[in-house]
Amino acid sequence: RMRGEALAQEVLRLKRERNAVILAHSYQLPEVQEVADFVGDSLGLAREAQRTRAEVIVFCGVHFMAETAAILNPEKTVLLPDLEAGCSLADSIRPEDVLAWKAKHPDGIVVAYVNTKAEVKALADVCVTSANAVEVVSRLPQDRPIYFVPDMFLGAHVARVTGRRLDLFPGECHVHAGIREEHLKALLEAHPGAEFLIHPECGCGSGCLYLKPDAKMLSTEGMVRYAKGAEAREFVVATEVGILHRLKKEAPEKAFFPVKPDAVCEYMKRITLEKVYLSLKEMRHVVRVPEEVAGRARRALEAMVAVG
Ligand code: 13P
Ligand code: SF4
Repeated sequence: RMRGEALAQEVLRLKRERNAVILAHSYQLPEVQEVADFVGDSLGLAREAQRTRAEVIVFCGVHFMAETAAILNPEKTVLLPDLEAGCSLADSIRPEDVLAWKAKHPDGIVVAYVNTKAEVKALADVCVTSANAVEVVSRLPQDRPIYFVPDMFLGAHVARVTGRRLDLFPGECHVHAGIREEHLKALLEAHPGAEFLIHPECGCGSGCLYLKPDAKMLSTEGMVRYAKGAEAREFVVATEVGILHRLKKEAPEKAFFPVKPDAVCEYMKRITLEKVYLSLKEMRHVVRVPEEVAGRARRALEAMVAVG
């Protein structure tokens, strides 16, 4: 059983041998982020998966992200180091839910957050991530009903910013839904000069904005970019705490305070360095999407990666 540095070296060696690229989400464990070629948010990872020339993509993230990579780049072998790395939000909606709405709204437009299974994406007109949802929705035709699935907090945020009326599916991420304004008040009082960065999946949505109207609603990558460029030295952060590793690494002179220090996505944390190693060694677990589903989902995903 190898540990730490030896394991990381072995991962890098196997990566070259396999002509593989390692893509990691910002919620991944620090040691996994450190062996990655690219760390980013859902949108950045989808784009990187689309453009890579490597033959193998080791996806350090959750299942829907690996599926997205496989759909956007069907020539490549996509590996997910642990198939149990799922997503409570993606699990909240079934294709039947979308079909039922479509049956009632034959001229309707379905906007699917990227945190969905491939079968749901295949029924969508366009996919979005937290980084481009506002921009994508604001470009949609004015005269047709729109169904935004599955995250109701992100959907409410998009409706508020765009002024569009959206039908919302009542889905949520258990990690972000648990981040609420009661955790926030004391922190903002202790750090009066801090800026407040909030992921739009958070359950506090309007409550947090009431406490701090100049809060910045951002994707994980948006948070890193914003913190690097901002004048402020302190930031209160509402999202999964894996992001703190990147924030501290990329803006080491600044201080970050999580609203909920136990906001941890156990699915993201299933990917350990040892599983990344085994994934490369044994070429497992291959994530494939049948072409009849992938073909339809691809249109919606290609529309997504083109915006923002
Ligand atoms: P980002 O696209 O902002 O990285 O978010 C992904 C996610 O799963 C949020 O919980
Ligand atoms: Fe899914 Fe929530 Fe985990 Fe993101 S944090 S992967 S939305 S369960």
